Amino acid sequence: MFPSSLPKPRGLAPQAVPVLRWGIIGPGWIAAHFAKALQEKTTQRLVAVAGRHLDKVRAFAEQWAIPQAFGDADEMLALKDLDVVYIATPHNHHFPDGMKALGAGKHVLIEKPLALNAREGAALQQKAQRQGVLCMEAMWCDFTPKYDVLRQLLADGALGELHTLIADHGEFFTADHRIFNADLAGGPMLDLGSYLVSLSVMVGGGAPAEIIARGQSAEQGVNGQVSMLMQHPNGMHSVLHTTLFSNTPGGAVIAGRDASIVLDGQFYAPGGFVLTSSQGNKTLRWEEPLNRYQQLYHEAEHVAWCIGQGRTDSPLRPLATSLITVSTMDEVRRQLGIVFNEER
Ligand SMILES: NC(=O)c1ccc[n+]([C@@H]2O[C@H](COP(=O)([O-])OP(=O)(O)OC[C@H]3O[C@@H](n4cnc5c(N)ncnc54)[C@H](OP(=O)(O)O)[C@@H]3O)[C@@H](O)[C@H]2O)c1
Repeated sequence: MFPSSLPKPRGLAPQAVPVLRWGIIGPGWIAAHFAKALQEKTTQRLVAVAGRHLDKVRAFAEQWAIPQAFGDADEMLALKDLDVVYIATPHNHHFPDGMKALGAGKHVLIEKPLALNAREGAALQQKAQRQGVLCMEAMWCDFTPKYDVLRQLLADGALGELHTLIADHGEFFTADHRIFNADLAGGPMLDLGSYLVSLSVMVGGGAPAEIIARGQSAEQGVNGQVSMLMQHPNGMHSVLHTTLFSNTPGGAVIAGRDASIVLDGQFYAPGGFVLTSSQGNKTLRWEEPLNRYQQLYHEAEHVAWCIGQGRTDSPLRPLATSLITVSTMDEVRRQLGIVFNEER
């Protein structure tokens, strides 16, 4: 049944979001956006930051008014007055940094992808369970108002029987970017592809039953692009593509028998979408400010809410969902023969 209006995004009650003391490991590009979003949009407290080079960590701390800077993550993790750690290091450091922070008894928010592969992801899950703390993947789009509206439309059956998801995510990167670095688990799959696979798992209702992948290498020895075809438990097909060679529109289409949603590129970031009935006679449009990095604050508030509720797994982004995403990427990589250094 076509809705008369779009569902309203459901926010968290401010009184249910405790103010936590945060530390950051990896004062790089995304960590700066995260710090800015927290400072501008929340009452969360950034109390410490750690990285490899103390000069850089100090500069980061100064820029974002963080009182303590450490050249060694272990020193930061020894702090008693630290509740939760945001891990923003390159992909292949998520697992060792995550295990370290969990071992110190801290809650953790780990940048996407949760880990290099399902084996590492499962070890993080076990460690968090043993320590009785929260571990969550920072798949930030899952916590934004737009994704909440999409989830409600899907749950309400507004699209009817789902048949097709088509999405792409291609970006041009210069050769000096870490995405070309084989020593940092480069290639577009974990960086860009994780958004595609995650969306397909959300829309398709679980792990794909069948996966077919084709890839092309980049000169630097990492994978350059991947095309994926998946069939999901609900019968839906996903056609997904990611590349580091070029910019692509980055849109997505979620097509059902009764209606379709066309998301503006980049589909996972704040932006518009149109819901159109299959007869073409009814449409509803979602619009919002294009405040992409500011919306990182939603994931942080969700983490604080979970911790305040005594939860050790997020109801929105449970580790089981992250593990399905990582396992799916494992299978894509297996078909393409992509092996990371840590797996050799
Ligand atoms: N949520 C999002 O929108 C989003 C966007 C981009 C990236 N990400 C994710 O965030 C993670 C970091 O990406 P980024 O673009 O922020 O990377 P980045 O700018 O290169 O920052 C990475 C940070 O990790 C540190 N690091 C620790 N060990 C390192 C090593 N062996 N080699 C290089 N750096 C090391 C870096 O140290 P130094 O400070 O010493 O250089 C830097 O502080 C990635 O996993 C990526 O998937 C998320």
